[in-house]
Amino acid sequence: MTANSDEIKTETDMGATHCQRVRHSLALKRRFIMVQQAPAPGPQQRYDLDANDESLPLLQDLMQRHGDTCRVTSISGGHDSVVIHGTDDIRHVLLGNRGNYVKGLALDRVRVLLGNGLMASEGEFWARQRRMVQPAFQTQVIRGFSPLMQQANADLIDRWTAQAERGEPINLTHDLSELALNIVLRALFSTDFERLIDADGASPFDLLTRETRRDLAFAAKFRSLTHVVRAMIESRRTEQRVEMDLLSTLMGARDKDSGEAMPERALVDEIMTLIVAGHETTASTLNWTWYLLSQNPDVEARLHAAIAEARPAQANEPPAECAYVEQVLQESMRLYPAGWLLSRRALGDDQLGGFHVAAGTEVFICPYLLHRHEAHWDRPEAFDPERFAPAAVEARDRFAYLPFSAGPRFCIGTTFSMAEMTMHLSMVAQRFQLRYAGSAPPQAEFQINLRTRQDVHMRLVAR
Ligand code: HEM
Repeated sequence: MTANSDEIKTETDMGATHCQRVRHSLALKRRFIMVQQAPAPGPQQRYDLDANDESLPLLQDLMQRHGDTCRVTSISGGHDSVVIHGTDDIRHVLLGNRGNYVKGLALDRVRVLLGNGLMASEGEFWARQRRMVQPAFQTQVIRGFSPLMQQANADLIDRWTAQAERGEPINLTHDLSELALNIVLRALFSTDFERLIDADGASPFDLLTRETRRDLAFAAKFRSLTHVVRAMIESRRTEQRVEMDLLSTLMGARDKDSGEAMPERALVDEIMTLIVAGHETTASTLNWTWYLLSQNPDVEARLHAAIAEARPAQANEPPAECAYVEQVLQESMRLYPAGWLLSRRALGDDQLGGFHVAAGTEVFICPYLLHRHEAHWDRPEAFDPERFAPAAVEARDRFAYLPFSAGPRFCIGTTFSMAEMTMHLSMVAQRFQLRYAGSAPPQAEFQINLRTRQDVHMRLVAR
């Protein structure tokens, strides 16, 4: 997916087919017909919705009882919430009437951790930052990271080979967290990151894999890493050193109107954001993918066959592109979207599902439930990558599938993470089969990210 640096295109603008555009214009017409002043139906009882474990069963129950648009009154006397599952409404919030929505309640916690980086910022400031950061995520720049992604996976495979020979199971969750962190830190800081690694292979950023809670105590420790980032920026400025990495690209980025570089504080916040956003989501997606493959031997066999067919001529070349590998990842993100709950806040009054939505209302979109919605998915609980064959994608409503969100705030790391995840899956699946070593299925933990509650352990079978 490419994007030009001057204009913030939405992912949806870029990918829409004729069929999808026709559906969109029909949706707009329907919206004008169904205008009401009444608020959406909802439960008598009050709740405070947020990205946490209690919210998912509640959202499931509300969807069953009240359908695709449901209003929830706040316990704490704050603004009401509206949960929307209808794709016309989701399109309206994320795209059609996007100017009326800012990031909502769930982002307040994220802001403490990430500061005012892209994930949390708003308005003109966000638009300017996005324009400046976007060129760093163009497809051709990401291709330049291919060797480091390949090397990181080759190192992991060496470690796993030694463990397989000793008959030891691997802690998949931990190892994938380290892998994804390593890749994003090398893409950001290249040689400066190498210098931070001590004789035992540890770096100050290891707390991201060591600690799994994302509470205020973690936020304070994580924010203390900003001094490490500032020191790297300072040393590059003093030495007038430019590296082939994301840090140098961001330091060299200039605002197209003023010609100015990012203020240092903004630069640091963007970097801290990329470290967290680029690491946890990718690691948890791969974690779920391996678990799903271990439970679906037919899909696994098909994956092995597709990779073998696409194999490059030289053994040391990067794995060839393979559509089925992407389909497996897309299907895994359907069942377990890392960003399982998106939140927005209405700036002015609006209409959703034909109901009145007052200014200040929190609007929740739940990709986890949307991706299992029977209106769009046949046998929603089944793991079936054929759902992402091109003809099936074309026939489906684009807004029924939102692992990277949509509209102008869609994930900037989409191409980066797909490159990283396809590389990983292709390289590892050629060498090993991963067999689930747990006795019960892993439980899902619904916090800011959708992770497994316990670490997943796997036995490796060499192929
Ligand atoms: C499987 C991997 C990933 C998933 C599932 C994912 C998912 C998402 C989602 C759902 C959003 C939108 C959140 C919202 O609208 O509230 C988002 C935004 C974002 N993601 Fe990702 N992400 C992934 C990987 C990455 C990577 C690798 C990076 C960077 C290295 C990244 C950086 C960001 C940033 C900076 C934003 C905020 C964009 C903006 O608002 O302008 N993500 N991501």
